[in-house]
Amino acid sequence: MVSQRGADVTPFIAMDVLERANELDDVIHLEVGEPDFAPPDRVIETAVDSLRSGNTNYTAARGKPELRRAIAAHYDREYGVDVDPNRVVITPGTSPGLLLTMAALVDPGEEVVLTDPHYACYPNFVRMVEGRVRTVPLRASEGFQPRIADFEAAVSDDTRALLLNSPANPTGAVMDGETLAGLADVAAAHDATPVVDEVYHGLSYDVAEHTMLEYTDDAFVLNGFSKRFAMTGWRLGWVIVPPDYVDVVNRLAQNLLICAPNFVQDAGVAALETPPERLAEIRTTYRERRDLLVDAVEAWGLDLGYTPQGAYYLLADVSDLPGDALDVADLFLDAGVAVTPGVDFGDEAADYLRFSYATDADAIETAIERIDRVLATVERR
Ligand SMILES: Cc1ncc(COP(=O)(O)O)c(C=O)c1O
Repeated sequence: MVSQRGADVTPFIAMDVLERANELDDVIHLEVGEPDFAPPDRVIETAVDSLRSGNTNYTAARGKPELRRAIAAHYDREYGVDVDPNRVVITPGTSPGLLLTMAALVDPGEEVVLTDPHYACYPNFVRMVEGRVRTVPLRASEGFQPRIADFEAAVSDDTRALLLNSPANPTGAVMDGETLAGLADVAAAHDATPVVDEVYHGLSYDVAEHTMLEYTDDAFVLNGFSKRFAMTGWRLGWVIVPPDYVDVVNRLAQNLLICAPNFVQDAGVAALETPPERLAEIRTTYRERRDLLVDAVEAWGLDLGYTPQGAYYLLADVSDLPGDALDVADLFLDAGVAVTPGVDFGDEAADYLRFSYATDADAIETAIERIDRVLATVERR
């Protein structure tokens, strides 16, 4: 018999849409969150060299010292923050890092506060450790930025963690330093711990990025190579762990994960040495695609209500179109464009569709033309 914990796990609808879209011919994929760039050549060469020189065995569970030092140096370079390499734990991606974090932090029945909308998988991580999810609504008219007062009202003595994400999936919102500092204060006042998923750091447009580590050391900060370095299938990430949790997270990593792939960790060191000009070029490309889609959504007469500033997503309200957002997603799929229904990301997003612009500009332009055509045929409410 399937466990209750397993039975309660909800599907990741974006993946379901991808499966259906793959059965159709000639579909443009605006549903997936996977960068269409290749990792830098030097990263590939480093992985191959490392493989050839025999780095195919286990490493220490917390990861290779060279990579942990390189990550600590990355925080100094990017944000001017001093991170002790002993607090860096390497994981096979950000997602396993989140699993370790939840296991180290949350007891059954304790609350984890997240925003709504939120990354689709977060509630399932909380369920895995039998925690309880409490959500704080975000509003498009406020750029999907958290209100500190709403968090203050939601946090209680039962709250163990605030699970935050910036730049955010699915909204593309980027939190400023004042908001992060305010959320750190709310957490500290209630003996709760911020858990901040920074996997989209490096992909922000026209705004400064801040890590939670600028405001507190009492936070779990998660990141990885999937997005910034377009290394989704390599499975490499890290967690910066509060000093008191280093030992438990290491024991959990030893037992649950063993380690991240050895030669991929060497490639991670090379990725962190990517020249800033290469990343700036990628950012410019994403920004141009974002502008294309933002203009299109406005031309469709849909209410965007904000400018997404990071990651490669935007969330558009489609409640003016006939049917619910699932119907609109089906309509677009029939027209040859796959998008993700907002319900994947929480009740507050049920009237929305998420568009990803991790696809080249030509494909985005074709998708826009297809949606132009289909919208010309439907009655508005
Ligand atoms: C907010 C967020 N966190 C984590 C992940 C997964 O990252 P990783 O590939 O490092 O496990 C994703 C993937 O889409 C994401 O959107």
